Amino acid sequence: MEWYKVSGVILAAALLAMLSGKVADVLIQPTELASAAIEVAEAPAAEAAAPAKKSAVDISGALTLMASADMGKGVKIAKKCAACHSFEKGGKNKVGPNLWEIVDRAKGSHEGFSYSKVLAGFGGDWDWEALNGFLANPKGYMKGTKMVYAGLKKDTDRAAILVYLRSLSDSPVALPN
Ligand code: HEC
Repeated sequence: MEWYKVSGVILAAALLAMLSGKVADVLIQPTELASAAIEVAEAPAAEAAAPAKKSAVDISGALTLMASADMGKGVKIAKKCAACHSFEKGGKNKVGPNLWEIVDRAKGSHEGFSYSKVLAGFGGDWDWEALNGFLANPKGYMKGTKMVYAGLKKDTDRAAILVYLRSLSDSPVALPN
C-alpha cells in the first residue's frame, strides 16, 4: 500500500519533470527527482493554504474566539507590548500611550501622549472591531501610525490580547456578541 503511494508520487514527479522537458536530467540525478517528488507532495498543502490567505482579510474570527480565549496567553503576549506600553491605572506613557481602559476609549485621547497626526485625527473609539483590525496589522489599519509593531496575525493571539486589554478596567466592557 505504501509503495503504491510512493510510486504514484514518483510517477507524478516524473510526469512533471517530463512536462518541463527535464526528464533526462532527472533520470541521472536522483536528488532532483526527490525534490520534484517533494514539490508534488507539497502541492495540495499549498493549494489548501491559498484560500486561507485570501480570507486573511476576514479577521472577525478573533472576536468570536474571545469567549473561550486564554487569559494567560494574553498576559504573555502583553509582555511584547510592554516594551512600549504601560497597562496599570495611572501608568505613565512610554514610547506608546498607557493602555488602562483602552477598550471603547476614544482613539488618540490619552492625556499627555503625543500621537501621530494620523492617529490623533482618525476618529472613533477603540471598540472591538477597531482594536482587532489595528492589532492584526497596525500599519495596514492606520497608514502612518508610529506604532512600530508587525501585528498579531493569529486570531487566537488577538483573541487572547483583547481579553487581556478588556481586563484593564474597573468595569470591563461586555464581550463582543
Ligand atoms: C515598539 C513600540 C510599540 C509596541 C511593541 C506596541 N505599541 Fe502600541 N503604540 C505604540 C505607539 C508609538 C503608539 C501611538 C501610535 C500613533 O500615535 O500613531 C501606539 C498606540 C497603540 C494603541 C492606540 C492607543 C490610543 O490611545 O489611541 C493601542 C490600542 C496599542 N498601541 C496597543 C498595543 C498592543 C496591544 C501591543 C502589543 C500587542 C502594542 N500596542 C505594541 C508603540 C508600540
